[in-house]
Amino acid sequence: MERTAVFPGSFDPFTVGHESIVRRALPLFDRVIIAVGENSDKKTLFSVETRIRMISKVFEGESRVEVTSFSGLTVDFCRKNKARYIVRGLRTSADFEYERAMGHMNWKMAPEIDTVFLLTSTEHTPVNSTIVRDIIKNGGDASAFVPSSINISDYLGR
Ligand code: PNS
Repeated sequence: MERTAVFPGSFDPFTVGHESIVRRALPLFDRVIIAVGENSDKKTLFSVETRIRMISKVFEGESRVEVTSFSGLTVDFCRKNKARYIVRGLRTSADFEYERAMGHMNWKMAPEIDTVFLLTSTEHTPVNSTIVRDIIKNGGDASAFVPSSINISDYLGR
């Protein structure tokens, strides 16, 4: 059976840390679906469509990566896509508490789906979408924090 993993997140924007997690997940699974969560309560800098375009650019030519959006529960999206794994990156102990709660709740709702946590590489530990977004909003240079194939200015205002 094909081993499919879902990597869910807001990805506003997708960072070098996210890219590294996907690249490290690829040897573990046959297919990785990067699922951009549509959360109408959250004010985002980039629209869902723009985030999908940005992320797709990073993985163009990688046939085992799919980029899409979802609304509703992550576990429902996993079931619909026959994915038995959720991948999440862990940077710090602060991440751990939030991720542990989500992992446990998802597991309670869908015991057939396991969350697989990958520790981010040491150089990516401080990289956080909220801070990267703030740098972009304030006109700073965020190029070191987003994948090299993403030129942020191509996506601003969309
Ligand atoms: O990048 P983020 O903001 O940490 O991603 C959070 C995300 C999208 C993974 C989380 O909010 C989520 O799973 N949303 C979908 C709704 C859901 O399943 N909620 C219950 C999780 S226990």
